[in-house]
Amino acid sequence: GILTSGGDAPGMNAAIRSVTRAAIGSGVEVVGIYRGYRGLIDGNLKVFTPRDVSNIINDGGTMLWSDRCLEFKTPEGMAKAIATCEKFEIDGIVAIGGDGTFKGAIDLARHGIAAIGLPGTIDNDITSTDYTIGFDTAVNTTIQMVDRLRDTCESHARCNVVEVMGRDCGDIALYAGIATGATEILIPEVKFDENEIFERMNKYKEEGKRHFIIMASEGIGSEYCESLTKKIAEHTGIETKFARLAHVVRGGSPTLRDRLLGATMGIKAVEELLAGNSNLVICENDDKIVSLDIEFALALDKMYKGKLKDGDLDKFSEEQIQQMKDRCAEAKAKVESLYKMAEDISK
Ligand code: F6P
Repeated sequence: GILTSGGDAPGMNAAIRSVTRAAIGSGVEVVGIYRGYRGLIDGNLKVFTPRDVSNIINDGGTMLWSDRCLEFKTPEGMAKAIATCEKFEIDGIVAIGGDGTFKGAIDLARHGIAAIGLPGTIDNDITSTDYTIGFDTAVNTTIQMVDRLRDTCESHARCNVVEVMGRDCGDIALYAGIATGATEILIPEVKFDENEIFERMNKYKEEGKRHFIIMASEGIGSEYCESLTKKIAEHTGIETKFARLAHVVRGGSPTLRDRLLGATMGIKAVEELLAGNSNLVICENDDKIVSLDIEFALALDKMYKGKLKDGDLDKFSEEQIQQMKDRCAEAKAKVESLYKMAEDISK
């Protein structure tokens, strides 16, 4: 079975196609499950042939549709999902999505259904993988939008505060900010001082700069992003507009990177299931596609996001905990070095 859950992301269809064709090619029957875990509860699924996934590789969104299904988290919901798996002889599931999707996969595995997670989210907020399916497209779409805003800012000597998605991860803002030469990048991972921003902007204005792009991640607070627009105008005298790109950067045809990532991760997921493995998440680390224990990946994620609760690390060895700490330090250092680079060249 294959499903997509949580926020859709460009490249999910490439992964669905890859999982379906790789599995069928190995003699395994595949069912597409519609609307995420909700489809498992409702029995909303279809036996796929290779033709069912043709002409989708270029489509954004997910042809299997998505859902954030709360009922699946209840014992009753899980019982219905397991009954569906038994009825349709589903032995293994590939679940594409973010950390919420992976929690669902772990629950399925605990109930005897082999489960493999694929990281699919525009946010790039899964600490165990360098890239998630959908991130590259979302950043490229953001770049296109911001380039347009810049044209009009330059013409009118204006500033534009641009808020982009990312829940509590600033990667879309950070990468797109660097690529569009944003004046300032505001992300939840790095502290900033608004008075210093105003000072810098005033200096650049005196030097003759006409366009100002302030790239802000929703993780610093959507209300704050909007209120900053007014404050900038007050403290700099620069006419300032606000743009929230929101879901517009979640759609659209996937880039080469997201199609390749979806395809390669999909094949790897099928290989793992055929080898009798379960409870894994497929990741890209240093350009290699690898499989990691999904519970390790979730604990690592909580560690990075400062969300660990008492007991969350009990089941892990000292060595695993050290690996998590190293990975967190690496991820933090990567964000800081990119941020510094952006600062150095935005003057
Ligand atoms: O996780 C992907 C994401 O697009 C986040 O960037 C954003 O905060 C959230 O989903 C929006 O969720 P919804 O689609 O339910 O509005």
